[in-house]
Amino acid sequence: MNTENKETKIVLVTGGSRGIGKSIALNAAARGLDVILTYNNNVDHATAVVDAINRNGGKAVALQLDSSKTNTFNDFATRIAQVIKKDWNRESFDYLVNNAGIAQRALIKDTTEEIFDELVNTNFKGVFFLTQKLIPLINDGGQIINISSGLARFAFPGVAVYGALKSATEGLTRYFAKEYAARKIRVNSVAPGAIDTEFGGGKGDDSHRDQIASMTALGRLGLADDVGAFVASILSEDSRFVNAQRIEVSGGMFI
Ligand SMILES: NC(=O)c1ccc[n+]([C@@H]2O[C@H](COP(=O)([O-])OP(=O)(O)OC[C@H]3O[C@@H](n4cnc5c(N)ncnc54)[C@H](OP(=O)(O)O)[C@@H]3O)[C@@H](O)[C@H]2O)c1
Repeated sequence: MNTENKETKIVLVTGGSRGIGKSIALNAAARGLDVILTYNNNVDHATAVVDAINRNGGKAVALQLDSSKTNTFNDFATRIAQVIKKDWNRESFDYLVNNAGIAQRALIKDTTEEIFDELVNTNFKGVFFLTQKLIPLINDGGQIINISSGLARFAFPGVAVYGALKSATEGLTRYFAKEYAARKIRVNSVAPGAIDTEFGGGKGDDSHRDQIASMTALGRLGLADDVGAFVASILSEDSRFVNAQRIEVSGGMFI
């Protein structure tokens, strides 16, 4: 497989039904990429994103995926292979964005094994094994982007496991970059700061939002499009020598 052709690039975005993933999907389509997005529960939201892309002359499909259920990933990879054959007459796609994730707030003293395992399975184990299963379908010269978090760099009470797993995801980013360098697949992580989505129940009341703004050099909470536009911009050959990096999109939190 190679990417020395001018075919339209295809990006697979997990968790593309809402929030940051939705914005990545829409911005990628606006830049001329075709999109496969996944959703977990919200098929209506996913369908709305697909319709918006198709209406604007792009091409998108949506598939269900629960990224905590690793035992479904072989079937999911088979499904992806079938979809790209049927809808694109291709054997492979170009970019994978591991965006799907959950928040579970708990102080360390209140963190149960159930909370811990749910976070590990969805935000870390799922990322590892989904990438492992899909990477044979990614073109040589393609790119993987793992969505991390500012919380991999700075700490708040209540998100210890979540933040630590995002640090682990950044570590994994470097290891995948190392092991798949022979295929010229680049692997980077993008770390959003506090972004105004429904994640973890949203960003709270005005005083909490003001507090976040005051910790941020650019003086505001981030928007999904701040991240989506950036990620879409590096899903191209313009970022061809950027590899194994962590890039923060936080407006400068805690600098
Ligand atoms: N928002 C922030 O402040 C912030 C900051 C730093 C990093 N991040 C990271 O950015 C990513 C996206 O966050 P967001 O703010 O866009 O969240 P969001 O608005 O809650 O959207 C989450 C997306 O992930 C999907 N999803 C949830 N659980 C899933 C599961 N078990 N399997 C597969 N898909 C699942 C959802 O699908 P359904 O629509 O079907 O539920 C939805 O598309 C996450 O990795 C998060 O850790 C967010």
